[in-house]
Amino acid sequence: MPQPYALLTGATGFIASHLLPALLAEGWSVRACGRRPRPDWFSAEVDYRSVDLTRPEELETLYDGVTHVFHLAGASSSTSTEEEMHRFNVVATQNLLAIAPAGLERFLHMSSTSVYGEEVQLSVPVTEDVQPSPSRGYGKAKWETEQVVWARAEAGLPVIVLRPVSVFGPANTKLLGSAVLDTAMEAWAGRRTLAVHARPIEQRLVHVEDLVRASLHLAGHEAAAGHAYNVVVPEYPSSHDVAAILAAAFGMEVELDDDPTCGASYEERASVHRQMLEQGMESRILLTEQRFRFMAKANRNNRLSVDALAATGFHFARD
Ligand SMILES: NC(=O)c1ccc[n+]([C@@H]2O[C@H](COP(=O)([O-])OP(=O)(O)OC[C@H]3O[C@@H](n4cnc5c(N)ncnc54)[C@H](OP(=O)(O)O)[C@@H]3O)[C@@H](O)[C@H]2O)c1
Repeated sequence: MPQPYALLTGATGFIASHLLPALLAEGWSVRACGRRPRPDWFSAEVDYRSVDLTRPEELETLYDGVTHVFHLAGASSSTSTEEEMHRFNVVATQNLLAIAPAGLERFLHMSSTSVYGEEVQLSVPVTEDVQPSPSRGYGKAKWETEQVVWARAEAGLPVIVLRPVSVFGPANTKLLGSAVLDTAMEAWAGRRTLAVHARPIEQRLVHVEDLVRASLHLAGHEAAAGHAYNVVVPEYPSSHDVAAILAAAFGMEVELDDDPTCGASYEERASVHRQMLEQGMESRILLTEQRFRFMAKANRNNRLSVDALAATGFHFARD
């Protein structure tokens, strides 16, 4: 049995910043890659490669010695155009798979529950074997990417696909991270109440540490190859519950409002954000055009089955 050697793509991103230390702690050797120069916080034992997966000429020796791939590189609608989402998800994955050697033990691909789509009514809770019907750019790109991965699975590659919902935790700069920034800015501007739309919207969340545990668990689970797994804590807090936690963290009270566009406008938030940066705040957290963007999206296919994950013996530790 060869020494387990992981190739971790998207290593400079949010989720990988938690998966990388977990792999090292479990004794894996790791080759990590992102486009940026080597991050300062990577320990010396990590073999870091700065590569652009859309450039096949940069990938030649990427797989040397590798037994398992954790493919996390990708792009989302928070920071990318539709064309970039296609290139950094679909084309990047095609290139990575084009040179995948025979004999890889596992190819774990980080997809997303956005592949299911929000508009076509699926049977809920959504199971992994449903025919996805993505309705937005990110979901379409992630589904097209999955199809590239499944085609290789049919040709014999032992593939595992994870479909997580919105992931939160330390170093999260988008989604819930942006909502934390929105709240911080309003608290900084002197507001005592956090206005949220009176209609509650069910949220789908998973803590990054649970996703990391699920990734490592599935990579070592004999029967996982060839399957997809939804990853969501099967309890769904409402936007009011999330707002109450955010408000409490900044000493504010939640105020319910019938106006869906309630709260500070983008111009107001952008101006406060500028002032905070001028006064020395250092933050990579994304300022979104729509306040609490991630909490505002209604999805008729919100509830997801996690029976497949549970059947492998996985339990969520955090909720
Ligand atoms: N975060 C979530 O809530 C969530 C939910 C469901 C699924 N996912 C999926 O999980 C994966 C990781 O998400 P994340 O939030 O950790 O993403 P992230 O923080 O945005 O990081 C993306 C990573 O992909 C790399 N990358 C992008 N394009 C690349 C290219 N052409 N060549 C090489 N590397 C490239 C980036 O490298 P550089 O930064 O160095 O350029 C970065 O390391 C993604 O596939 C995402 O779709 C995320």
